[in-house]
Parts: sequence; C-alpha cells; structure tokens
Amino acid sequence: MNIDASKRMHREAKKIIPGGTQTIGKRPSKMVPGEWPAYFHHAIGAELWDLDGNRFVDYVQGLGPIILGYNNSAVNDAIIKQLQRGTLTSLQSPLELDVAQMLVEHIPCAEMVRFFKTGAEATAAAVRLSRAFTNREHVVSSGYAGWHDWWVSKLSPSPSSRGIPNSLHHLIHDAPLGDIDRLDAIVAEHGQDIACIIIEPKGMEGEREYLAYARELCTKNGFVLVFDEIVTGFRMSIGGAQQRYGITPDLATFGKAIANGMPLAVVVGDREIMKLAESLWISSTFGGEALSLAAAKATITELEKPGAMQRLRDLGELLQDGWKQIGADNRTVSIYGDPAMPGIRFIDAAGNSDLESQMAFARHMLHAGFLIRPNHCFFLTLAHSEELVQRTVDASAEAIDQILTLTT
Ligand SMILES: Cc1ncc(COP(=O)(O)O)c(C=O)c1O
Repeated sequence: MNIDASKRMHREAKKIIPGGTQTIGKRPSKMVPGEWPAYFHHAIGAELWDLDGNRFVDYVQGLGPIILGYNNSAVNDAIIKQLQRGTLTSLQSPLELDVAQMLVEHIPCAEMVRFFKTGAEATAAAVRLSRAFTNREHVVSSGYAGWHDWWVSKLSPSPSSRGIPNSLHHLIHDAPLGDIDRLDAIVAEHGQDIACIIIEPKGMEGEREYLAYARELCTKNGFVLVFDEIVTGFRMSIGGAQQRYGITPDLATFGKAIANGMPLAVVVGDREIMKLAESLWISSTFGGEALSLAAAKATITELEKPGAMQRLRDLGELLQDGWKQIGADNRTVSIYGDPAMPGIRFIDAAGNSDLESQMAFARHMLHAGFLIRPNHCFFLTLAHSEELVQRTVDASAEAIDQILTLTT
C-alpha cells in the first residue's frame, strides 16, 4: 500500500504542528505506526479515501463522531441552509432551543442543557457544577474525560501532565470501571470531600451493576453522579447508556456523535444543579454556533426515524455474530461490548490483553482496506451495509488466521 503523500505531509506538518495532529488519538504512531495513512482526501458513507487514493471501510469514524455516515445529505442540507442564514451572529440562534428541547426529550437526566464545542469543555463544566453544588473539591473519575487540568492531574506525575499544578493531583481519584472495591476504598477515605463521581460507561458486560452501585453511593452520600456519555451518547441509544440501563445520573455530558462530525458537546442534567451555570463563570463565544446546532437537529431527526437506532444495533450484532461464526470467541480471541460498540480482543496465555496480536490485527485489517484502532471498539454508522459488514468478517477471519498461525 502506497502512503507516500500522507507520509510526506505528516513529516512537513510535524515541523510546524507539535505532534503533527490536533488529536493525540489520531497520531499515526497511536494507530499502526509507519503504515497508517495520516491524511484523508474525502469521505463518503462508511468509507474514506486517503491522500494517496487508497480506499478504506472506516470503523474509526473520526474517533466516534460520525454515526449517520460521512457526507450525510440530511446533515449537509441542514448545514447549507443555516450557512446561508448565519453561522454565528450577535444574537442567539433559535436552534439552541430546538436542540435543547430534543435533548431534554430524549436524555433521561436532562432537565436543562448547556452547549459547548468539545467534550473536554462539557466535562470540565460538569465537574465545576458538581463542586459548586456540593461545596466539595474531590472528584472520583472512571475513564477518560478530556485534556483539561482537573482530569489530566490524575496522571501526575508523568511527562504528559507537566504544566499542571501538583496541588491538583490529590483532588482526583482513579476508579476503574467495574471496580467496586476501589470505589468503596476511595469513599471510605475521602467521603466527606467528594463532589462527584464521573464515570465513562463503555457498553461492557456487567457495567450496569457498577453504575447502579455508584448511583446508590452518590444518593446516600450526597455526591453528584455524572455519566460522561461523550462516546456512548447516541450510540447506545439517543438517551445514552443511562437510557439503555435505566440508571439516571444527576448530570451527563454528550459530544462526538451528537452532530455527526460537527463540533458540539453538551452538559445536561438536574435543574437544581444546572441552574448554577447561570451564576458560575461558564461561557463560550462559540457555544451557540449555529451550523453545529443545525447538524445536531438533523442528526437527531434522522436517528428518531423508526428503526434507525435498531439498525445500528443490528449491524453491530451482525458483526459480532459473524465473528462468532468464524470461531473468534474462544480462549485466544474474544468478542466484547454492546452491539452499538462491538469489539474483538486477543488474549495471551495468562489471560491478559495480547496487545501485540491486537496491533497485528489492526495492521492486517488496514492492508485489507479497513480502518480500525488497535485495542478499541468498532464504530458503526447507518451508512455501513450488511455487505460491508460481511466483508469485514471475511477480512477478520483471514487476519485472525494469520495471527494465530504465527503465535501458535
Ligand atoms: C469519554 C470521553 N470523554 C471526554 C472526551 C473529550 O472529548 P473532546 O476530545 O471532544 O474534548 C473524550 C474524547 O475522546 C472521551 O472519549
């Protein structure tokens, strides 16, 4: 596969753009190092074409934001119509209320809504609101929540957390998803000081019980429960994981897929907590930018159509069933995740994730014409077809076969 043009451009970019990309997760070194095409030329439906003209079926989908497919005509039309009226003006767009009403209708915890451009802004606002509401400072965090100081201080001290005051580190406590003992230990030690537990659901087996436990813990102790649904939002359902599991947090953040690739994120939740955003300094010039709101309205309208969300799940199930049929559910390879976010994992003799095989799988798939992230779930869209899914299963079978032949 020739990726010379991509490589050349990435080399030039690194001279004047630190890291060469805006998103750490999109660096070729984080994907399949040396072989990953860094740049796209165009993208349509479930597929994209790189700068060298290679064509891929995409399961990365921009790291999650694309849910209807690239270049979706309903979203394009909505953006173009709004473009002709105004992108951002001195007054608010009525779309703010339209989209807020749609979110309140769909998301169980949503009584009020504030808009942002990125997921990190939305989670920062959720933490600020929680601290203000409880008058406490400590945060319990499960998963990733964005690049702002409050979260990256969790990684201190480390090369990636330099620049963040050391004094922030003691305010954040890492509680891996599903680890109830760890959650109990943090609460036993810091219970009086905890403002919120912020959890990133992942659509994994058994997580409902953990989320239910966290809900009870928060209610009992007066902590704010925040679900970070930046990834699960609109994928597990329009109302997110909270709707699928029937567990309602106090606040939630949504982003990525809610505007099919346009930059929009929200914090939603309980009226009493959200109303604090009237007086707290939470403000963004571009928060009400109208093209993204138009895209969100069109995206929700498409997903509300009968059968749309079910089709997304059906495609995921088809992929999972296909993997099962090729025998990819045994001691060395396993299938995981909600059908909306299915994944395949290689396991070593000790029962741990076999990252080398995981990388080899991503490499094989890349050369067969599929973009997947090593060690990450697949993101499906409504533009994926049964035929593309079957081709994915066939390519997976070949990749697994070659990897297992080499490792056994
Ligand atoms: C669960 C979760 N929360 C928050 C974020 C941050 O979102 P953004 O990159 O839009 O700031 C991400 C990004 O990957 C995420 O996966």
